[in-house]
Amino acid sequence: MVSKRALNMPASPIRRLVPYADEAKRKGIHVYHLNIGQPDLETPKEWYEYIEKFKTKVVAYTHSQGILPLREKFSEYYKKWNINVSPDEIMVTNGGSEAIMFALGVVCDPGDEVIVVEPFYANYAGFAAYLNIKLVPVSTTPENGYRMPEKEAFEKVISSKTKAILFSNPSNPTGVVYSKDELQTIVEVAKENNLVIISDEVYREFAFDNKKSISAFEFEEIHNNLIIVDSISKRYSACGARIGTFITKNKDFYNAAMKFAQARLSPAEITQYGAIGLLNSSEEYMKNAIAEYEKRRDVAYEEIKKIPGVVAHKPEGAFYLSAKLPVDNAEEFIKWMLLNFNVDGKTTMVAPLSGFYATPNAGLSEIRIAYVLSAEKIKDAINILAKGIKEFK
Ligand SMILES: Cc1ncc(COP(=O)(O)O)c(C=O)c1O
Repeated sequence: MVSKRALNMPASPIRRLVPYADEAKRKGIHVYHLNIGQPDLETPKEWYEYIEKFKTKVVAYTHSQGILPLREKFSEYYKKWNINVSPDEIMVTNGGSEAIMFALGVVCDPGDEVIVVEPFYANYAGFAAYLNIKLVPVSTTPENGYRMPEKEAFEKVISSKTKAILFSNPSNPTGVVYSKDELQTIVEVAKENNLVIISDEVYREFAFDNKKSISAFEFEEIHNNLIIVDSISKRYSACGARIGTFITKNKDFYNAAMKFAQARLSPAEITQYGAIGLLNSSEEYMKNAIAEYEKRRDVAYEEIKKIPGVVAHKPEGAFYLSAKLPVDNAEEFIKWMLLNFNVDGKTTMVAPLSGFYATPNAGLSEIRIAYVLSAEKIKDAINILAKGIKEFK
């Protein structure tokens, strides 16, 4: 009775192992969750103030493209990032997730192909399965720090069905922030082969060591072939708000996405008001958030690189670190950590990276750590991981 599409839908590699964590918790073990990108920092207070202020008598639908004051606010915010888009080039979506679905739906027909830089944000595979789109990977490796592949790697996999290149920058899961030259590679490939760039920039703020992440928008020559996916989830610790944006200067893309947007009627009304509050929050809030993640990144990297046999490069952004462990099968190791290992009643859960690859059997020894706990907890959690690796081997 169930469709092939549904059967083919991959289970989230992050959520798949949750029953094992539940089992550990039933036994009274404390689990450090470094497996999921749920930030723990407080949401700015402006969120609550704005929701209070815009209390309405009726909880109504809004315009399908989102309320104008929010799109105006986004337009102002993007200008600070050299992304010059008017409110009519911004569509409010139910999280960046819906913006990704819209982007893929606008650009691809069933059977079309999209090139992804792997390892990639695992839910891209879910969206692709839902839309009958084939993800074609271009691989990066832990040994070269998961840097962007050369132009030839892209050219090799382009077929008559290729429609787009999809990637996140800063990257989930690797924490790489692409340089101007690396982005230039993608821009050239897209331009020469008339492909669309879908640039997922939801971690824009989180670039460390005083670096700034560069938007694909900075390449003017690609504006007509560019869709930017964005979200307030991570930057303001507001994942439950479900507010993202679909941004494009290409009117055909925008109008096509509008039809999808109209079919789902509108984003949630109240959280759009809350999002205006977030965009009015202080620069201080963001500075502190970036500093906090940078501190955690330092601790996570210092601790992980002490483990013999681990291959890891220092992440430059987002709040993730990917690493190759000296184990054959990281997923088995993670299960074992949850079911069979603890230090003083505590264990650590990370995400297996294999689910972030489209290439079969790639990334089997790799994991992703989300540094969404305090520095002290991260240190303890990675020490437990280190002891676990020693015993597992
Ligand atoms: C790279 C990337 N894009 C998009 C999303 C989607 O987030 P949301 O739908 O909460 O905006 C996430 C969430 O983890 C992500 O990591």
